[in-house]
Amino acid sequence: MTESSYQTADAGKSQALKLCSTVDAYSGSAEDIVKRHLYEPAPQAYTETEYQRASEKIKAILERENAAIIAHYYTDPLIQRLAEETGGVVSDSLEMARFGANHPAENLIVAGVKFMGETAKILSPEKHVFMPTLEATCSLDLGCPIEPFSAFCDEHPDRTVVVYANTSAAVKARADWVVTSSIALDVVDFLDAEGEKIIWAPDKHLGSYIQKHTGADMLLWDSACIVHDEFKAKGIHDLKAVYPEAAVLAHPESPESVLALADKVGSTTQIIRAAEQLPHEKFIVATDQGIFYKLSQLVPDKQFLIAPTGGAGAGCKSCANCPWMAMNNLDNLASSLTQAGNEIFVEPQLAQQALTPLQRMLDFVKTQN
Ligand code: 13P
Ligand code: SF4
Repeated sequence: MTESSYQTADAGKSQALKLCSTVDAYSGSAEDIVKRHLYEPAPQAYTETEYQRASEKIKAILERENAAIIAHYYTDPLIQRLAEETGGVVSDSLEMARFGANHPAENLIVAGVKFMGETAKILSPEKHVFMPTLEATCSLDLGCPIEPFSAFCDEHPDRTVVVYANTSAAVKARADWVVTSSIALDVVDFLDAEGEKIIWAPDKHLGSYIQKHTGADMLLWDSACIVHDEFKAKGIHDLKAVYPEAAVLAHPESPESVLALADKVGSTTQIIRAAEQLPHEKFIVATDQGIFYKLSQLVPDKQFLIAPTGGAGAGCKSCANCPWMAMNNLDNLASSLTQAGNEIFVEPQLAQQALTPLQRMLDFVKTQN
């Protein structure tokens, strides 16, 4: 029988509430709901001329400093565009890690959240890793502080410790395996087949999803992503009532009731692939809105709807927009290499310890392809 143990951790919500003030209610008629959730590109902060001017400046810096941009799908569309135009990458967190480790540039600019910069540094200690802002954290990272987590692991020495990439370097260093959402299910399936019992941290929804699909014996840490935790099954039902033909694509950080409605559950890259490959013309997408830039670019003929979030009265006023990802912009990206205080440092001994479970994941991925 599967044991379950939840630690209480609601970190990040208060910080996010200060950063994010839009309430996304799903009241009103069915047509109102659809109108509200149909994805429309937001007005850009830069005109095309301003973008060209800023991108020329950044391109010159990248060339001069032998640097490459590694951006996540949730970042500002202009950052994603610039990363692609300059030979960098826009991807999920697994590919960000692989790209940074394999790229010959001396300097990496990681546009995303802090754990992504730390992962790049741990995998490439000889490179300089910069971020547009070091303030961009993640509620999962905040929700899993090293001291209680380490004590929790100590209480269960017979268990293999598997942690999500959305954690600090210290938590990674305490783990046997690091995984991202695109490979988590396969790794746990493999460990379960080997007869391993598992400690999983920090995302409880992803942990439950894996537990359900693998039947593995897992103890789950209790933390959640403040963005995905707010997607609501009721709102998706309401949208499906208007568009019964729409497929639902959901990131596994979403609650179980949302995942139960999904035609495809997967990482950001797997969501994009599903939108390309599934025959549906319309999709309800339960993940951060940043992904719609890439979805619209790769699948321009299909229609995308933003899955409804908390609604009026909800604890978190999430609007499917990660407040920390939104801290990255072209201005702070442009100054990240030249302005002091934007470089990622990971204490070398910690980095060395965290490298083992990270490398284990990358080696495992190779066996899957
Ligand atoms: P992916 O690895 O699927 O890109 O997820 C990262 C993340 O932070 C999702 O909220
Ligand atoms: Fe973390 Fe959620 Fe933001 Fe992803 S969307 S970086 S899990 S807070």
